[in-house]
Amino acid sequence: MFIKDPVRLGRVGPLGLLPYSIPVGVRSTHMYVIGTTGQGKSKFLESLIVEDIRAGRGCGLVDPHTDLAHDTLAHLLSIGFFRDPQAVERVIYFDPTRTDFIIPSMCSNPHCLHTLSPCL
Ligand SMILES: Nc1ncnc2c1ncn2[C@@H]1O[C@H](COP(=O)(O)OP(=O)(O)OP(=O)(O)O)[C@@H](O)[C@H]1O
Ligand SMILES: [Mg+2]
Repeated sequence: MFIKDPVRLGRVGPLGLLPYSIPVGVRSTHMYVIGTTGQGKSKFLESLIVEDIRAGRGCGLVDPHTDLAHDTLAHLLSIGFFRDPQAVERVIYFDPTRTDFIIPSMCSNPHCLHTLSPCL
């Protein structure tokens, strides 16, 4: 899985044999996901984010509800992504609502925030 690989969405065609992907370049022209409650929007986004992270494509997630962020971390954990120490360095989890972790004011470099992560 590499940075320029197409993003794999699933399978289509007879017996679902054909992979269905979208080129990475297409996503840079914006994309939105709509659907009624419980139709799988968050799960779909989780898959895309995990694929981006595994391929080394930089991505950010702003999640006011926190469930998608937690599910994404759990997904990465379940596939063994964090067994690689460098992978831990690449994922920054920041939860401004936590009062038991104080972010030092001199911590201007966001890369040091991972050390404050309660999830890793
Ligand atoms: N591709 C899938 N295969 C199996 N189960 C799925 C799939 N996509 C979603 N689900 C399941 O369907 C349920 C609803 O999915 P999800 O939370 O992603 O929906 P949502 O559209 O984000 O809902 P909401 O509008 O409430 O935020 C979850 O239990 C999820 O695990
Ligand atoms: Mg959702």
